[in-house]
Parts: sequence; structure tokens; C-alpha cells
Amino acid sequence: MSKIDDLMARGTELLGSDHAILCGAMSWVSERNLVSAISNAGGFGVIACGAMTPELLDAEIAATSELAKRNFGVNLITMHPQLFDLIDVCAKHGVGHVVLAGGLPPKGSLEAIKASGAKVICFAPTLALAKKLVRSGVDALVIEGMEAGGHIGPVSTSVLAQEILPTLAEEVPIFVAGGIGRGEAIAGYLEMGASGVQLGTRFVCATESIAHPNFKKAFIRASARDAVASVQIDPRLPVIPVRAIKNLSTEAFTAKQREVANLLDEGTVDMMEAQLQIEHYWAGALRRAVIDGDVEGGSLMAGQSVGMVTQEESVADIIATLVQQAEAALRGRG
Ligand SMILES: Cc1cc2nc3c(=O)[nH]c(=O)nc-3n(C[C@H](O)[C@H](O)[C@H](O)COP(=O)(O)O)c2cc1C
Repeated sequence: MSKIDDLMARGTELLGSDHAILCGAMSWVSERNLVSAISNAGGFGVIACGAMTPELLDAEIAATSELAKRNFGVNLITMHPQLFDLIDVCAKHGVGHVVLAGGLPPKGSLEAIKASGAKVICFAPTLALAKKLVRSGVDALVIEGMEAGGHIGPVSTSVLAQEILPTLAEEVPIFVAGGIGRGEAIAGYLEMGASGVQLGTRFVCATESIAHPNFKKAFIRASARDAVASVQIDPRLPVIPVRAIKNLSTEAFTAKQREVANLLDEGTVDMMEAQLQIEHYWAGALRRAVIDGDVEGGSLMAGQSVGMVTQEESVADIIATLVQQAEAALRGRG
């Protein structure tokens, strides 16, 4: 067994894939084509449920199953108002892995997923919450730093990895995400105790990704410093920051926050509804960019690793490159 396979063994065993490389769910991007291509190339694809209704998720899982010869997972957002119906849809299709994103899993959700026989993978934003999630019985954790694309936490990947891996890597497989663009970084996190990694940005420009050509061009042109985090303008409205390539929509988000803050002031909406409106805004803005190709008015969610995306290439080539780079780095260290 090669060194990389050895270091990834717990990850590949959990996922049932050749490599413990997840393509993190990306709303609108991680649909049947990209997800099946990732899994068929030996990685692990994850459908992004995002704001889909149970009916849409049902159709997407069915279509992905037709194309995928290997395991894939489904990512559900914990604040989705129909979370439990979505869990039922996953159970109906016998989905083997459910990834819960966007905050602590609500009461009963872990149990409901596990009762279906699926493995549960959760995002852990801090060591304390990671410990709590392990005690609640999650099968694996993703730790994602603020270099990542999309919704982000406040701490960098390198610090999260140092805080969480030495304490918890023995207990459950941990996948490191955020800012990974090359295999040398994968090798580093594996040596620190990670069982695998999750990448998003690096896969957006895959040939098999249905992202609009304009969206892919914006990624290929951008450098790391173009992928900036959104700014919170009202302290009462705790919006989760989003990292995206800077464009006109970056400013439009400031206006949206003002509009929602005014609704809060008037008492027209409560905090839960205010946050849902912000999330719907992002879903709509991302759709405009990914599907319609509106790269100025839409949101170009991307991580800092976007600077390492230089061309459109197949998923198989991207995974092969990452694995070769990681293997070479590990060999180099003897
Ligand atoms: C365009 C885009 C959309 C994303 N949408 C989601 C999502 O719907 N749910 C989620 O859990 N993570 C989402 N993410 C985060 C990815 O799943 C992944 O964890 C992240 O991209 C990893 O960091 P990287 O971009 O530095 O590789 C998104 C990322 C991007 C770039």
C-alpha cells in the first residue's frame, strides 16, 4: 500500500472511495454531473441540496444514481425548514452518507439519519463543538477554515487543523477543507492526522461541472486576493460571511443587509426569517452567476485557492494531479 493510501485508509473506508478526497457540496454546481464524475473518478462527490424542496432533491438523487457507479453523499443545510423531510428522501434512496452543514444539527436529526443506516458527517467550527459532535455519535467531521469559498467561519484552516487534529483524529476520521489547491497541502494535513480532505473551488472548472463558461472564466482569471469575505454591516444581524470573487454583487449584498435590518427594526420579520432572507439572497445570487453566467450581478463564491485554478480540465485529471503531488511530497520526506 502506498503511503498516501495508508494515511487515507480510514477516510476511504468510511467513504467507500479510492481516495479520501471529497468534492464539497457547492450549491448549483454540485449536481448530478459533477457529483457522479467525482465519484466515478475515485473521489467522493456530494450533492448540494441547498434550498431544494424534498421533491427536487428526490429527482436529483435519482438522476445521480443513474450516472454514478460509486458511492456519493448528500449535503443538507441544518436551517432548511424541511430538514426532516429531506432526511426521509435520502433514506428512501438508501443514500450512504449525509453531510450536515450550517450550524449545530437540530435535535433528533443525527438519530434520524443514523436510523436510515447512513453515516453522518458534520462540520465542526471549534474544538469544543467538535468534541460535542463526536459525543453525539457523528461518524466523521469536516473542519473548514476561512480560506474556503462560500459560507465561512472566522478561523483559518491551519489553526483549526492544529487545534482539532491532535485531540480528535484518533476518535473519528477528520477531513480538512479550505484553501487546498495542491497535493502538497493534502500530504501535510494527512501527516497531521487528517483522514482525508475536502475541496470545492478546485473542482468548479472541471469539464464535467455545469457551471456557466463565464463563471469558469472568472475563476481562471482570479487570483487568491480577489476572493474576499463579505462584511457584516449591522451588529444586530449576524450574517454568516461569504467568500466570493469581488464584483458588483459584493456591494449589492451591503444594500440587502440594510433592507433586511430595516425589516427587523419595523418588526416585519423576526431574526430567523431575517437570516432565511439573507440565505435566499445568496442562493439566488449564486444561481445567477453559476447558471445564467451573470458574473457581475451574481455571486462568484470562491475560495482563496482560486488562484491555483488555471484551466478547465477533467475531474479525473484534477484528482490524478492532486494524488501525484501528495505522493511526491510524502516520498520526498522519506
Ligand atoms: C461556489 C461554492 C458553493 C458552495 N456551496 C456550499 C453549500 O451549498 N453547502 C456547503 O456545505 N458548502 C458549500 N461550499 C463549500 C464547499 O463545500 C467546500 O467546503 C469549500 O469549497 C472548501 O474550500 P475551498 O473552496 O477552499 O476548496 C461552497 C463552495 C463554493 C466555492
